Amino acid sequence: MPTSTASTRLGKNRTGMQTSPALAKAMLENAEEDVTEPTASFDGQALAEMRASYIRDADPLGSIPPPTTAKGAAKSGAKMMTGKRPQAFLDKLGERLAYERGGARLYDAAIAKFLAHASELRGVNVEELRQIRDEEVAHALLVQECIEQLGADPTVQTPSADLVGVQTMGLLQAVTDPRTSLAHTLNTLLAAELIDEAGWEILIAMAENMGQSDMAARFREAEEREQEHVFKVRGWYEALTVETERLV
Ligand SMILES: [Fe+2]
Repeated sequence: MPTSTASTRLGKNRTGMQTSPALAKAMLENAEEDVTEPTASFDGQALAEMRASYIRDADPLGSIPPPTTAKGAAKSGAKMMTGKRPQAFLDKLGERLAYERGGARLYDAAIAKFLAHASELRGVNVEELRQIRDEEVAHALLVQECIEQLGADPTVQTPSADLVGVQTMGLLQAVTDPRTSLAHTLNTLLAAELIDEAGWEILIAMAENMGQSDMAARFREAEEREQEHVFKVRGWYEALTVETERLV
């Protein structure tokens, strides 16, 4: 039967070793034997060597294609001439685009979670969650426009876009899991927003470095919104967690 997810409840959790002192003792004895006589399956060195071999043989995560329009190519060429690396900037723009799009999906899942527990919100404003979600979409569109301005293709999955796609899978799994509470969901949103804010800071610095001061100004506005997201989500998370724990 579904129950309240807002509070941390007592239950039959048997994952701790102290659930079974006798078996815990036997397990520790076994672990001690493994330390003195390491077997192949517990040999950390073998694992490190295997990882090193995969790393040596791996292809890069991806690449950045050349700009697709003549105007963009000319611009990129000019930047190349000054020793700056437009491909690194395009990679980070691709990253921000992927992250903002992922952020909108994360908030879609969070809004569904909050609506399902509407009686437990304790000060969290779902309308404000929707507003944050819409701002993530607006940020994705802003970055898309900037990529196009540089003559590049915004549909390209750049290496860093690939990276953040993998990273955000864990965040999405945490929020879409029907068992996670509102506090768990806000904890996850806070993690996402902190990364987001840092990502914009780096993008602003890169835009300035590339001589794209107009873009940098627009990115600064986006970063201000992201700071508000961090502030709001952190506030809701703290209020929900601290208030709930006081009530238990
Ligand atoms: Fe955000």
